[in-house]
Amino acid sequence: MDSSAALAELDFAAAAARLAGVVRRTPLEPFDAGEARVELRLKLECQQVTGAFKARGAWNQVSLLSAAERAAGVVTVSSGNHGKALAWAAARAGVRATIVMPADAYANKVQACRDEGAEVLLGRDRPQAEALCRERVEQGSTLVHPYDAERTIQGAGTVGLEIAEQWPEVELVLVPVGGGGLISGCALSLHRALGPSVTLLGVEPQGAATLGPALARGEVVPLRHVESSVQGLCPPSLGRLNLAVCREHVSGALALTDQAIFAAQRELVLRGGWTVEPAGAASAAAVLAGAIPAHLLEGRSARRPLRVVAVVSGGNPDPAQLEELRRGR
Ligand SMILES: Cc1ncc(COP(=O)(O)O)c(C=O)c1O
Repeated sequence: MDSSAALAELDFAAAAARLAGVVRRTPLEPFDAGEARVELRLKLECQQVTGAFKARGAWNQVSLLSAAERAAGVVTVSSGNHGKALAWAAARAGVRATIVMPADAYANKVQACRDEGAEVLLGRDRPQAEALCRERVEQGSTLVHPYDAERTIQGAGTVGLEIAEQWPEVELVLVPVGGGGLISGCALSLHRALGPSVTLLGVEPQGAATLGPALARGEVVPLRHVESSVQGLCPPSLGRLNLAVCREHVSGALALTDQAIFAAQRELVLRGGWTVEPAGAASAAAVLAGAIPAHLLEGRSARRPLRVVAVVSGGNPDPAQLEELRRGR
């Protein structure tokens, strides 16, 4: 079976059963879109265990490890949320974890991994962190990939399954994109549950766009220059499995400025009262910045609004950045 055929058969209900009682079923909250033609609801994964949707993929992965894989310990490379989630999942399962991070990862995320008992290795930059991770894998550790892996995608897809149950009338789902684990999982599970009429769009920083270029070229395009400070949305490239899913199930990518993403974070924190990190706010930013493609709003009105979910994927901001935002600087 090739990889996209295997993905088409991923059992999201089985993953949801594995996650039940371990991760939270997060709320779907209405939020004023500032646009009468849009009825917006936010899927608050910022309230997830470990503060991000990543707990879903991490637990799905760790709970399926064989005895030999558990004994070998797990390793990953992550700028933050996946590392924290894997450290948490491994600790819960009594498995040793090594998290490799680039040196510019937020200090709170580094500490969170250590607090869970994981070993943290800091690479000078992303490529060196990747190399350190590969070394550990060569020495026998089990790689738990943050996005380009079936079981990670399967765990992330339970977000989509919940959205389908919470608002089956949803028409457009907006998802922040880094390597593409969250959007590929959600696209598969939402299309499976609700049919192909639900539109999926990825949202990414203009300065670190991976999905748009990959969809345009039909292949993974390595990100050579990162000109964004939205941590979590600046991976080396989209994943291969993720691209295979997105080509079939995702309608496109919206590239936003960092400014629009940080402005949305501000709205969600100050108006919504939620603790949200910039990456988590990217999906809502697409609505708040007026970036929904015009053809999707055609014929819509306050009486017949487009029903939109924005996945607010994470709530672990750098504390200093959050403090500045709250002080209005
Ligand atoms: C808060 C948050 N949102 C979105 C993403 C992107 O997820 P993916 O790499 O699955 O596209 C990440 C990745 O780390 C993240 O931390």
